[in-house]
Amino acid sequence: MSRRTIIAGNWKMNTRAADGASLAQGIADAVGENPTVEVVVCPPSVYLSRVADVLAGSAVGLGAQNLYPADDGAYTGEVNAAMLCDSGCRYVILGHSERRAILGETDAQISEKLAAALAGNLVPIVCVGETLDDREGGKTEAVVEEQLRGSLDGLDEARASGVVIAYEPVWAIGTGKTASPEQAEEVHAFIRKLLGELFTDEVAQQMRIQYGGSVKPGNAKELLGQPNIDGALVGGASLKVDDFVAIINAG
Ligand code: PGA
Repeated sequence: MSRRTIIAGNWKMNTRAADGASLAQGIADAVGENPTVEVVVCPPSVYLSRVADVLAGSAVGLGAQNLYPADDGAYTGEVNAAMLCDSGCRYVILGHSERRAILGETDAQISEKLAAALAGNLVPIVCVGETLDDREGGKTEAVVEEQLRGSLDGLDEARASGVVIAYEPVWAIGTGKTASPEQAEEVHAFIRKLLGELFTDEVAQQMRIQYGGSVKPGNAKELLGQPNIDGALVGGASLKVDDFVAIINAG
């Protein structure tokens, strides 16, 4: 089963209109028309339309960093799947550890967002990952399992293969500490086994699992070379054209 590598840049709250537009342009130019990997950038939501204009006609997909799971209505400050689609999005990151930790997002909320993303024809990237305390306490698999079971609760087997999982150990995000390829592969293999239990082995073989956490040009090839690592969710290094393109080329 060959799974197409997916490299996504999570710009977080780090770009403004002008530098985001030139970053998107630089990536689109470097990636060309037929990249072997799937490439996605996820700007702050207020700039989605502007980046969509820059990416129009390119092979780079556009993603959002969050959504609110409701139809249009009285939800001050929120943005739903239909609005993201309208803005040119095809992907959405859900349950990033920063949202879990800073905004208190729960697995139950993430599962509602997942349903809304799929209903709105967006490709969800569902993030899971343990903290340093969890890892040192030997709880990595238990934490990842609980997050996955909760976040994917209610997900229909028929739609599961279109969902992307991102394994992002919290201790490796923005810290410069990367999980070793062996450490990452061990958790990815565990996740795939669990997906086989939640759905079927066939579905689990089709689902893509990205690694995230200080992915850089220097470590991307080794990480992406692991059998169960099907891509990367990149924060800091996605903000520089050369670094992000080097990671894409490692895929
Ligand atoms: P990082 O962020 O690459 O800066 O560690 C990854 C992420 O949070 O998605």
